[in-house]
Amino acid sequence: MQIRPYLDVLPTLGSRVYIDPSAVVIGKVTLGDDVSIWPTAVVRGDVNTIEIGARTSIQDGAVLHVSHDGPYKPGGRNLVIGADVTVGHKAVLHACTIGNACLVGIGAIVLDDVVTEDFVMIGAGALVTSNQQLKKGGLYLGSPARRVRELSQREIEFLSYSAAHYVRLKDKYRAGRD
Ligand SMILES: CC(C)(COP(=O)(O)OP(=O)(O)OC[C@H]1O[C@@H](n2cnc3c(N)ncnc32)[C@H](O)[C@@H]1OP(=O)(O)O)[C@@H](O)C(=O)NCCC(=O)NCCS
Repeated sequence: MQIRPYLDVLPTLGSRVYIDPSAVVIGKVTLGDDVSIWPTAVVRGDVNTIEIGARTSIQDGAVLHVSHDGPYKPGGRNLVIGADVTVGHKAVLHACTIGNACLVGIGAIVLDDVVTEDFVMIGAGALVTSNQQLKKGGLYLGSPARRVRELSQREIEFLSYSAAHYVRLKDKYRAGRD
């Protein structure tokens, strides 16, 4: 079953959410309206909470998890993803905060306590190491990821386009027709 409780806590789903049958969403997870979770993605909200904002897509094979409360991280750390975010195929997001209208590239890894502002693009394959603050409107690439330049206006507009595209696509999946 793709939507499972952790202990007695089930995920909370907004309106018109699409979760592929092969994805897994567990526990203390809140999905906003029109969120889509694509094949084999894992969203595991057990030892802390995960919030995903409206119209955000979590693409195939992405892994989302959180940090637990313990001696090395009092209180643990949750995962927050804003609205209109595209999380690319096989990206890994761990206990971090992603702003609105961001794109996390294919295969990127974002570690604990990273905070990105809105309109940030993390390139394919980037490794964003712990505690980084990613500033609005930047393109971040590499391992470790660094800000390489400002996004162009066209790229900034693409971020919202990408989110809207995935809302349209998940609506087709929900309807079972084009
Ligand atoms: C970064 C990106 C946006 C391209 O930006 P760009 O400015 O057009 O980059 P270019 O292709 O012109 O390449 C410019 C330089 O960046 C390098 N580069 C491009 N993408 C890179 C990446 N992801 N990581 C590291 N370096 C990268 C190129 O090799 C090139 O290096 P050089 O100047 O030494 O030759 C694109 O490669 C990318 O990663 N997009 C993310 C796509 C994605 O994952 N979408 C999610 C779909 S669900």
